[in-house]
Amino acid sequence: MQADVLLGLQWGDEGKGKIVDFLTPKYNIIARFQGGPNAGHTLEWDGKKHVLHTIPSGIFREDAINLIGNGVVIDPAILQGEIEALEPFNVDINAVLQISRKAHLIVPTHKLLDAASEQAKGKTKIGSTLKGIGPTYMDKTGRNGLRVGDTEGAQFLDKYNALKEKHLKILSQYDFDLSSLEDLEKAFFAGVERLKQIPFVDSEHLVNNALNNGQRVLAEGAQGSLLDIDFGSYPYVTSSNTVAAGACTGLGLAPNKIGEVFGIFKAYCTRVGSGPFPTELFDEDGQMLGEKGHEFGATTGRARRCGWVDLPALKYAIMINGVTKLIMTKADVLSGFKHIKICTHYHYLGEQIDYFPYDIVSNEVKPVYKTFDGWEDDLQNLSSEADFPAQLVTYIEYLEKELNVPISIVSVGPDREKTLVRDQTILT
Ligand code: GDP
Ligand code: IMO
Ligand code: MG
Repeated sequence: MQADVLLGLQWGDEGKGKIVDFLTPKYNIIARFQGGPNAGHTLEWDGKKHVLHTIPSGIFREDAINLIGNGVVIDPAILQGEIEALEPFNVDINAVLQISRKAHLIVPTHKLLDAASEQAKGKTKIGSTLKGIGPTYMDKTGRNGLRVGDTEGAQFLDKYNALKEKHLKILSQYDFDLSSLEDLEKAFFAGVERLKQIPFVDSEHLVNNALNNGQRVLAEGAQGSLLDIDFGSYPYVTSSNTVAAGACTGLGLAPNKIGEVFGIFKAYCTRVGSGPFPTELFDEDGQMLGEKGHEFGATTGRARRCGWVDLPALKYAIMINGVTKLIMTKADVLSGFKHIKICTHYHYLGEQIDYFPYDIVSNEVKPVYKTFDGWEDDLQNLSSEADFPAQLVTYIEYLEKELNVPISIVSVGPDREKTLVRDQTILT
C-alpha cells in the first residue's frame, strides 16, 4: 500500500481537520508529519465542536491509530491540555495515540525565544503563533534539540538544563521579561509526565510495516503550502516543510510510498499573521467573507485576513505537492455575493504573469481578476451535487479547467455531514 497525504494549498486553515475526520473511516492510521501546536484543526459533528493542535484529526473515529510523527514538534504542556480536553469524549487516548521518539520537544525557553524575537522585529514581525515553533526547529537543525525519546533516559534533566542555559544566554541579549519561566516550566514537566504514559514508537517502522501489511495511512498536513519554509512567502512562513515532501521526512516514508495527494483549499482565501497576500480584500466583500466564514484563528483567535481565490498561488502549490485530487471547502460562505472573483494572473514589475514570483514580499503584486456571477442558495441545505446552483457549477468547472485537477469533494458547512462527494472513489 501507499500512504495518502492531505495538505493545505493556501496559508493554512483550509479545513484540513474537518476533511481528515470525514475521511478517517477509510484509514487505519492518521499521522501528523510536521508543525506543532501552531496548528488549530477544527472538527464538528453531532452538534459538538472540537479544536485539535498536536493530536491528529482521526482521534474521534473508532479503530484508527493516531500517530504524531518524527517531523512534529511537541509542547508537552499543550499536549496534556489537549488530552484533558478529550476526557468528556471517552477516547482511550493511551490506546489510540502513539508518538515518535524522534519528535522534538518544545521547551519553555523556546516559547520565550519566539516571543522575544517577534518583539525585537517590531513592525516586521512574522505574526507567529508564539508556540515556540521556529526556535524548536532551529535547535533541531542546529543539532541541539531535545527529543521525545530523551525523556526516557537518565540524562533528560541534564540535557534540559544545558539547553535552557544556552537559551537564557541568548535571551539575555533581548530586553525581554522572563518572569513567566517558572510557571511554564511547571507545566512543561507535568506535561512530560503525561507524555510518558503514551506509547513511544519508532514511527518509521510503524508506518512502513502497516503499509506492507495492507493497512491504510493518511498523513495530515498542518499549516499550508504558502507557509512552507522553502516554497512559501519567505520569511513570512512557518519553520517546517508543509508540502508533500514533508510527509516523507516527517514520517519516514520513501517517495514511492506516497499515493494520493489531496490538496485542500477554501473557495476563497485567508491568511492569519503578517506577510504578502495579493488577493487580500479591504472592502465590504472582505468583511463579509470574514463574518460569514467566522474567520478567526482556531489557535490564537486572531481575525483572519480574507480575499479571493488566487490561481497563480494555487497552481504553484499543486505543482510542488503533486496534487492528485482537490477538495474545496467553505463553498457555502460564498452564497449571497452578487459577484465572486478569481485571480487569474498578477501584474508584477510591469508584466502580466501567471506564476508565483520569487520576491512577493518587497515587490508589489497586483491581482488580475475574472468575475463570476454569485448565487443566493444556502448550500448548507443541499444533499447532493445535483442541487448545486448553476453559478457554483460554473465556478467549480472553471477552477477544474484552470487547475487541471478534479475537485473531488465540496464542503458546504463545518459539520462532518456537510460534505458533498463528487468522486466516490475518494471514499474507497
Ligand atoms: P484547518 O486548520 O485547516 O483544520 O482549519 P481550521 O479548523 O483552522 O479552520 C477552518 C474553519 O472553517 C473551522 O472553523 C471549520 O469548522 C470551518 N469549516 C470547515 N469546512 C467548512 C465549510 O465547508 N463551511 C463552513 N462554513 N465552515 C467550514
Ligand atoms: P493550521 O494547521 C494558519 C502562521 C502564523 C504566522 C506564521 C508563522 O491550523 O492551518 P509560527 O507559529 O509557525 O511561527 O507562525 O504561520 N501559521 C498558521 N496560519 N494556520 C495554521 O495552522 C498556522 N500555523 C502557523 O499565523 O503567520
Ligand atoms: Mg487551523
